[in-house]
Amino acid sequence: MCGIVGVTGNDNAVQILLKGLEKLEYRGYDSAGIYVNDLQGNDYLIKRKGHISNLEAAVGPEVHGSVGIGHTRWATHGVVSVANAHPQFSEDHRFYLVHNGVIENYKELKATYLSDTTFASQTDTEVVVQLVDHFVRTQNLSTRDAFLKTLGLLEGSSYAFLMIDSLDPDTLYVAKSKSPLLVGLGDGCNVVCSDAPAMLDVTHDFLALHDGEMVTIKPNSVEIIDQNGNAVSRKPFHVDMDPSETEKGTYPYYMLKEIDEQPNVLRKIASTYTKESGEPNFDDKMLSALNQADRIYIVGAGTSYHAGLVGKKMFEKLAHVPTEVHIASEFAYDDPLLSKKPFFIFLSQSGETADSREVLVNVNAKDYPSLTITNVENSTLYREASYTLLLHAGPEISVASTKAYTAQIAVEAVLAKALGEIKEQTIAEDFDIRQQLGFAATGMQAIIDDKGRIENIAKKYFVKAPKAFYIGRGIDQTVSLEAALKLKEISYVHAEGFASGELKHGTIALIEEGTPVVGIITQKKTAALTRSNLQETMSRGAQALTIVRQGLSQPGDTIVTTDINELITPLLSVVPAQLIAYFTSLNKGLDVDKPRNLAKSVTVE
Ligand code: F6R
Repeated sequence: MCGIVGVTGNDNAVQILLKGLEKLEYRGYDSAGIYVNDLQGNDYLIKRKGHISNLEAAVGPEVHGSVGIGHTRWATHGVVSVANAHPQFSEDHRFYLVHNGVIENYKELKATYLSDTTFASQTDTEVVVQLVDHFVRTQNLSTRDAFLKTLGLLEGSSYAFLMIDSLDPDTLYVAKSKSPLLVGLGDGCNVVCSDAPAMLDVTHDFLALHDGEMVTIKPNSVEIIDQNGNAVSRKPFHVDMDPSETEKGTYPYYMLKEIDEQPNVLRKIASTYTKESGEPNFDDKMLSALNQADRIYIVGAGTSYHAGLVGKKMFEKLAHVPTEVHIASEFAYDDPLLSKKPFFIFLSQSGETADSREVLVNVNAKDYPSLTITNVENSTLYREASYTLLLHAGPEISVASTKAYTAQIAVEAVLAKALGEIKEQTIAEDFDIRQQLGFAATGMQAIIDDKGRIENIAKKYFVKAPKAFYIGRGIDQTVSLEAALKLKEISYVHAEGFASGELKHGTIALIEEGTPVVGIITQKKTAALTRSNLQETMSRGAQALTIVRQGLSQPGDTIVTTDINELITPLLSVVPAQLIAYFTSLNKGLDVDKPRNLAKSVTVE
């Protein structure tokens, strides 16, 4: 949430900042701004509402410099406006600051220290930059000491800060707690960013910052100190990513590209996590820790939580290990009763979700073993868990998650098989996951190749619909939640995913003439039941549609997917729903990749 970039020591600062912000736009897009200084006495502050393109249009050729900071905002405190956009600045325009996070005690700080200060915005961030200025002026502190003193006052807050003192402009002051931030090491210049892809044109070598650290960055030096003031030395990590991986190429939207990439992601997971013989291929230490657990706790948010619901079915069926799935934001503060030997699995595409991270901090404090399954190497959840598995899905840029969901399910499936084998469960031994992932990849491709027909379905039944339902039982019910989330978040159709048998206990009252109700039918045991629940909605005027596994199909079914093992059918049944959501949004003329009110990588709780 909110993207931050900074650079010092490069005459191309303006272009570096704008390009970086473009790459981070998925983190927030309600307003954006840059502050640039040329070290010759000229500086520029430009902020605009809306997308980065509005900001770019406002940056004229006169704007130049070698040091600067930039921000793309997802509003927390204060409405979307130019005044509330970052950089925020001190009353005397000496200090400029960008921030990702939330300052919990900003009202108290304002009342205690800044009663005489005139504020230009409604943001919590402005309090921080005004405080630095206040301590420099009233206590004669150096900028660094005033910054440190201010950091010490921010109780329980989450922040990634990047600040410039316009009187000593080639230095960037950086600090982080809970919100992600990286320092990139360039040639004669250094950069700062929320996420490595933003700066791959400048460098592939990054330093991860830890909570409580403060960093002073000049063109040729980076000095990190910890919260006790001790110097920290840290080795950079190398990001081996081709910048073109983050481009959308000839696709109109990232979401369509990412849907199309799914078959290859499954193949990649199969080749990474299984041997040619079909056996799972994981670190023995991790498997042994998992094997000792008497209960698995899967934690995630949004789509990752939905992938966890599928994981539960797989761990319970293949390994016979009781598994609970928790919404991270609920788990963090609920203090649930745990089993004697819990093992935590964190699912997170970004590896930065604040709600999930809060749970991991508590898990680590209690010394419980944990595994993060994420798409982003060196992300916070990656670094802080006992074990990690990467999704290998390639960057996911569209705000609506697609390939991360199917990748998470595929990795969980291999892991559940591995655990089931250790526990000598016949069902796991007979489950040829490598072969099944291959079948799933081929089945996915068939759905993707039929996208023209799915667009027609979207146009006919969803584009004008005020509401829609996906229903199913068991594993199909979990997919119905994800299918509905996709539709509502990018097309603004009020959609619900529902247990099909539960509909008649109240929610069926919402069915009206023409309401689309999609039955997901992939499980033999419940197929007839879901079909009869669909009939009940049709009797009340619903437009019934189906996504059905071939072996269970009947004449008149809407979308038929190929047959794969019933445990991994979500890999196929979700794809038509992703495409329905995509084409509904597209045909409503909406911005598919950047739906209203949202941002990718939710780094505030
Ligand atoms: C929905 C979506 C979100 C994320 C959620 C968790 O399409 O993208 O619901 O799944 O914010 O994000 P990660 O997986 O990065 O922890």
